[in-house]
Amino acid sequence: MSTPIPNNVDDDDSDVDIINPFTSLMLPPQQQQPSDKQQLLENKYYKLKSIKSNIVIRQLPSQGLSFQLWPAATTLVTLLDNHGINSPLVPLFKTQENRPLDILELGSGTGLVGIAAAALLGANVTITDLPHVLPNLHFNAEANSEVVGVNGGKVSVAALSWGDVDHMEGVGREFDLILGSDVVYHDHLYEPLIKTLRFFLLGNNTNKEVLVFVMAHLKRWKKESAFFKMARKLFDVQVMHTDSPSNGSRVGVVVYQFVGKAASNVNSVPS
Ligand SMILES: C[S@@+](CC[C@H](N)C(=O)[O-])C[C@H]1O[C@@H](n2cnc3c(N)ncnc32)[C@H](O)[C@@H]1O
Repeated sequence: MSTPIPNNVDDDDSDVDIINPFTSLMLPPQQQQPSDKQQLLENKYYKLKSIKSNIVIRQLPSQGLSFQLWPAATTLVTLLDNHGINSPLVPLFKTQENRPLDILELGSGTGLVGIAAAALLGANVTITDLPHVLPNLHFNAEANSEVVGVNGGKVSVAALSWGDVDHMEGVGREFDLILGSDVVYHDHLYEPLIKTLRFFLLGNNTNKEVLVFVMAHLKRWKKESAFFKMARKLFDVQVMHTDSPSNGSRVGVVVYQFVGKAASNVNSVPS
């Protein structure tokens, strides 16, 4: 369910933390005391209504936060699944040459968003994360290769540690759209993520003149406003969608779009 879009929801740093920082990065309540078997492996099935298909995502919760699904991912998948109806993302799904979209996902975790995007949009999607996360991303890409392929999509997996120039150059610049969900959380990651967005959104993108980063985010800490302040120096940041709060939280998932500001405006900002 969505609610009216508030102004600058991310800039509210006058408030206390939205969710207790210690619980916010722990597992959801139903997973906090799992059996040994659940700790090792947990499959989650997602119904993609628009293509009448399911995808399956393997989570490995005992291996850390990169191996479990985060709430913002579900919101983004729902918007992608509604792409034929009234999703605010629809204008982003067109390529001038009427070819498949080339999409990059940052901080993919289990890969749900990127794999769903490939199946739903018939897109070529590169899902990325830190090197130790890649085996599970490969596993999930392979587990869904049939449903993705039948719908005209393709998923590739690549290491992309934010701010690592070799990694960023390795995935190339030929993208039409960049996606990310729940990638703003620890403050030491703000700068590397901004550097990555700067590379892709302000660099010489070969596919599109204006490349957009669509980010689904669940605000947890007031300190996150520092990320948005840094981002607004380089990018125009707009709210595209907000979910209603759920599970005792005071805020819901917010989906933003980031577009690079004209080069002349950002020359004075250090890289
Ligand atoms: C909170 S999880 C969200 C995962 C997934 N996007 C989702 O919504 O389910 C954050 C993700 O960012 C990745 N990440 C953290 N630091 C990173 C870095 N420096 N470079 C690349 N990815 C990073 C983590 O490995 C993790 O998969």
